[in-house]
Amino acid sequence: MSRIISAALCALAVVAISSVDASAAYDATAGKAIYDSSCSACHKTGLVNAPKVGDKAAWGPRIAQGVDVLVEHADKGFQGKKGTMPAKGGKASFSTQDIGNAVTYIVEQSK
Ligand code: HEC
Repeated sequence: MSRIISAALCALAVVAISSVDASAAYDATAGKAIYDSSCSACHKTGLVNAPKVGDKAAWGPRIAQGVDVLVEHADKGFQGKKGTMPAKGGKASFSTQDIGNAVTYIVEQSK
């Protein structure tokens, strides 16, 4: 009996962990400083065709890909139909966490 209960608890724990939203791992407040210093040059003005922060129509389909895909594209660089997103916005010193924070800030401002 107790084996069944512990197996059930185990299954519950797995479900609980895997249902945590990926964006919860990132900090939008910390991301704002990164955005302001290194992403806004393109994403505030639409320079080189970058999708503007706050432009829901431009961001809707991108956000639909999921935060993980957006973070990977921003971290590793991305060539899309609009233009080129440089890896880490051109600042190699940013960690993936920094980029995730900035992406989370952008997403929160654009949905
Ligand atoms: C030199 C200009 C430039 C800078 C700086 C820049 N971006 Fe971009 N970014 C772009 C362009 C252009 C695109 C659109 C690419 C496309 O879809 O064709 C883009 C797209 C993106 C996307 C969407 C990717 C997707 O899958 O749709 C994210 C997320 C993003 N940028 C995050 C960032 C973050 C975070 C920073 C700062 C660390 C940053 N960008 C800095 C130009 C820039």
